[in-house]
Amino acid sequence: MTILITGADGYIGWPLMLKLAKEFPEERIIGIDNFGRRRWVEEVGADSVIPIATMEERIKKAHELGFKNISFIYGDLMDKEFVRTLIRVFKPDVVLHLAAQPSAPYSHINMDKAHYTQKNNVLSTLNLLWALREEGLTKAHFIETTTTGIYGAPNLHIPEGFVEVIDKFGNRDVLPFPNIASSFYHVTKGFDAVNMWLMNMQTGMPCTDVRTSIVYGVDTEETMLDEKLSTRFDVDFYFGTLFNRWVAMIIANYPLTVYGSGNQIKPFISVEDACQSLVNIVKEGNEEEYRVYNQLVEYVRIRDLAEELNRAAEEVLGKSPGIKFIPNPRKEKEESEYRFDNSKFMKVLKPKYPKMKDTLAETVERLNRFKDRILAYKDLFIPKKVVG
Ligand SMILES: NC(=O)c1ccc[n+]([C@@H]2O[C@H](COP(=O)([O-])OP(=O)(O)OC[C@H]3O[C@@H](n4cnc5c(N)ncnc54)[C@H](O)[C@@H]3O)[C@@H](O)[C@H]2O)c1
Repeated sequence: MTILITGADGYIGWPLMLKLAKEFPEERIIGIDNFGRRRWVEEVGADSVIPIATMEERIKKAHELGFKNISFIYGDLMDKEFVRTLIRVFKPDVVLHLAAQPSAPYSHINMDKAHYTQKNNVLSTLNLLWALREEGLTKAHFIETTTTGIYGAPNLHIPEGFVEVIDKFGNRDVLPFPNIASSFYHVTKGFDAVNMWLMNMQTGMPCTDVRTSIVYGVDTEETMLDEKLSTRFDVDFYFGTLFNRWVAMIIANYPLTVYGSGNQIKPFISVEDACQSLVNIVKEGNEEEYRVYNQLVEYVRIRDLAEELNRAAEEVLGKSPGIKFIPNPRKEKEESEYRFDNSKFMKVLKPKYPKMKDTLAETVERLNRFKDRILAYKDLFIPKKVVG
């Protein structure tokens, strides 16, 4: 079996390469990336606070440590000739598609960034799906990490992909949940979902749409083996995700910034559980369905999380930074009582980390070594104009 993984240099993609190599030692694991993420983070003046090795160094170290079945190809998925050749030459059985520009705030910087994000994400997915189709590989399992952000924030129990709709005449149908995403980035994943659905409908190509929630944490079992295997860890406003940025704030003794009322509910999964569940989805297989999973382990109200983390910080460090409510820099619905259905997903994964707050001590311990780097980038937690 050949497994292609796009976005292999990314926060989730790199640890996923290693986990796939461990779990499928007889199979060929090929990573693709164009190093866009390294450039975008540099562009906003930041860097991964955990130093990351080059791809050559990563692969060399991985081979030395026994992950012998991985290799890497540099390329841009927006280039359809590159994608065609890739698919023709390697004839993958599974494509794990993680490549994307994944930052909502980055997609909102200006028209160029919105344009780039939408073109990059939508065309990369389209190129992969069509290359598989044109090469006669419609039995290949296409798996994409889309996002729970596709659902927006409706005052509903959010289903796993589909919703039963009843019209005013009493007719019923089961339809894909509408794409009511609230950023120019998140919208791209709704577009991808429809393109996968369409490709599945027209060709029977098995597509698993993994609605990934906010991923947090520093390590997986494999990245812990050596410094050179570390994955990136961003804490700036544009690329640092919620828990990760807040742990850095705790280390810098900087009040946890809560956007708006803090009544927003957000879903989470650790990077270990995110990677393990993707491996499990590959193992499970998919014959011909368009299947949706809500890839989350818990969901929490933001202001509650800020309080919990302050209490946990008090226990771990003997001090806590407090909370600062700031005007919401995002246009988003803050008041909603929505809940997530993840019952199908929980049959795929037995989480190693059921509660994010319980990981604080080990995350702080791991990051404390990079305290200087965190302090160097602390002005980038929140842009000055947002702090006021
Ligand atoms: N991290 C999260 O909290 C989260 C949450 C929901 C969904 N996701 C999704 O999961 C996936 C991985 O997220 P991540 O956090 O690892 O992001 P990441 O930015 O670290 O990884 C994405 C990788 O894709 C590469 N890439 C982007 N466009 C490319 C192109 N045209 N050609 C080749 N490579 C390209 C980037 O260089 C980067 O290394 C993304 O699709 C993201 O939208 C992530």
